[in-house]
Amino acid sequence: MGEKNFRKVEGFLHGGDYNPDQWLHTPEIIQEDYRLMKLANCNTFSLSIFAWSALEPEEGKYQFEWLDQIMDDLAKHGMNVILATPSGARPAWLSQKYPEVLRVEKNRQRNLHGKRHNHCFTSPIYREKTQNINRMLAERYKNHPALIMWHVSNEYSGECHCELCQAAFRNWLKKKYDHDLNALNQAWWTSFWSHTFTDWSQIESPAPHGEDSVHGHNLDWKRFVTDQTIDFYLNEIKPLREITPDIPITTNFMGSYPHMGPFKELNYDKFGKEVDIVSWDSYPAWHNDYQTTSDLAADVAFVHDIYRSLKDGQPFLIMENTPSMVNWQDVNKPKKPGMHQLSSVQSIAHGSDSILYFQWRKSRGSFEKFHGAVVDHCGHENTRVFREVAEVGRILNKISAIAGTTVKPEVAVIYDWENQWAIDEAQSLKKNAKKYVETCQSHYKSFWKKGIPVDVISMDKDFSKYKIVIAPMLYMVRPGVAERLEKFVSEGGTLVTTYWSGVVDENDLCFLGGFPGPLRKLLGIWVEEMDVLYDSERNEVYDLNLNGRQMSHSYQTYDFCEVIHPETAEVLAKYKSDYYADMPALTVNRFGKGKAYYIASRNEQKFQDDFYNQLIMEQNVSPVLSVDLPDGINVQKRTDGTDEYIFIMNFSEKTQKLTLPDGEKYVDLLSGNDISGKISLQKYGFFILKK
Ligand code: GLA
Ligand code: GLA
Repeated sequence: MGEKNFRKVEGFLHGGDYNPDQWLHTPEIIQEDYRLMKLANCNTFSLSIFAWSALEPEEGKYQFEWLDQIMDDLAKHGMNVILATPSGARPAWLSQKYPEVLRVEKNRQRNLHGKRHNHCFTSPIYREKTQNINRMLAERYKNHPALIMWHVSNEYSGECHCELCQAAFRNWLKKKYDHDLNALNQAWWTSFWSHTFTDWSQIESPAPHGEDSVHGHNLDWKRFVTDQTIDFYLNEIKPLREITPDIPITTNFMGSYPHMGPFKELNYDKFGKEVDIVSWDSYPAWHNDYQTTSDLAADVAFVHDIYRSLKDGQPFLIMENTPSMVNWQDVNKPKKPGMHQLSSVQSIAHGSDSILYFQWRKSRGSFEKFHGAVVDHCGHENTRVFREVAEVGRILNKISAIAGTTVKPEVAVIYDWENQWAIDEAQSLKKNAKKYVETCQSHYKSFWKKGIPVDVISMDKDFSKYKIVIAPMLYMVRPGVAERLEKFVSEGGTLVTTYWSGVVDENDLCFLGGFPGPLRKLLGIWVEEMDVLYDSERNEVYDLNLNGRQMSHSYQTYDFCEVIHPETAEVLAKYKSDYYADMPALTVNRFGKGKAYYIASRNEQKFQDDFYNQLIMEQNVSPVLSVDLPDGINVQKRTDGTDEYIFIMNFSEKTQKLTLPDGEKYVDLLSGNDISGKISLQKYGFFILKK
């Protein structure tokens, strides 16, 4: 962990969102909670996330007594508290008295009071009110023995288009463009469709019934939304930093659904710098009918690795996950027996130091009453879900030495939020098949299948600690990135990039003089055009030659085939058909001590697997276990530099066998026994070994 350490707590955090404010009228239920918390092997609860109206029922009238009691009782029962600031949902009196706190949508309509996560991030009144209540909480609980961390607001998201936000956006732009409107016009290419601005006051946030076709504008707006959200957050945490400087601060980040990827709307790479500990809410749709368990597991693994990489390997937290089902997916399916343990172990394997739930107890009424919880409406511990949660707690206790250790990959995949935004905007290609995150995940998966740990980083991170850096679809190349990649390769690194790279700069303006723009010298090719394939069309990549090994079979391409010309690069594979038959589909360019590969087409997974296998051998990248892994088995490793902890997980629906590397001795942390040779993993089974 960084300097601010929640590790006055030994081991892992296990527990979750606890809403006793919904049960104050039935104190016997709250008493029962304490008994059940111990039975479930829990140690940590997040309080007051949506408790503003219980804490400040009228403006300036506070009632903290109930929270005092809960905090004291939790401490008495040996529980830690992650205390939330309540800005995620505000009391009705606040919206009524100060309508400016209500969010204005893109269509410029102000929302009515209701729901949550719908405040204006700019409103001075909302900022003042949140700071006040946060100050009261910090003053009151600063020395409370249960307090281990701040949970600031909840799942920040969305944007506001009110007049206050418009003014803030214009100020942000003035600052960015140094008060030079001409510079903005240039960056946004506003001469297109006669969009030149002659006064700052003409600029508004993008709107469906107004301007939404200027890509530089859209991109700057998204950057502003991230900055304004962070600014709101920084305002929220001021009193916390001042009054409780030793208590670490987090805010819960999100994933995406139905495809499991990172949440796209906020640049968490930037936001991550402002929190002490990264945490996220992980809700994969396990057992869905559009992906195998192992494909979904690889996608979730990718997201865990993004969040671990935000703070360079520092352990992160699972702030929320469900012990059974959610209530907001299309099909709200419970986790099948064993999946809760397996998915928890997977989070830990990738660097989480917690398993926390939404939610401890199902609420009796309203929107989330059927969302999975540790304690169901039946109110007792005799449920499958409760037993599985208690089992996770037991496992976490047995492996507590692993908490605080990290993952040290030799390989990085670049996933970059601004690049994502620019790709999503592009009016080109095959619009519903751009699939930036899926493409990153498909390259990532080749390493996941072999049990090779990977970092997932933005293009601004340090590349020097990796042997291989993979930058799929590096469409946007911000200033300095090409130079840093050149340095990485010239010093011996291996870079892999693909079609649709080096196309636009940080303003979404195309590079002139031939793609891949600033990467052209490093890659030793230039891209003449891109063939876009209908779903029913295929081409093939053949004659693949790597490390002197000739592959006899060919690989299917789909969606995108670029027509490229080698300049200094060597051709390693060709297209089979169409007007670019026999032209290069894969190239490598020697650059200094390293190599830069260019994959010109979108290829089937087998291509990635075969290609990276060769690279892994050539670059001597070590898998966690040097054995062949059966399909669906994944292996990860955490280490403190001395001890190594190995996670072997079966993401398949059948029993699988594996032989541990010859001559290696391990301790099975769950049974306490020495283990070597053949092991068998039942469906959703796992081992956690110490080497
Ligand atoms: C129309 C318009 C042009 C251009 C093309 C694009 O024809 O008149 O300005 O937008 O569509 O195909
Ligand atoms: C989010 C929220 C929680 C809850 C869960 C339900 O993660 O932060 O308050 O609504 O979703 O899955």
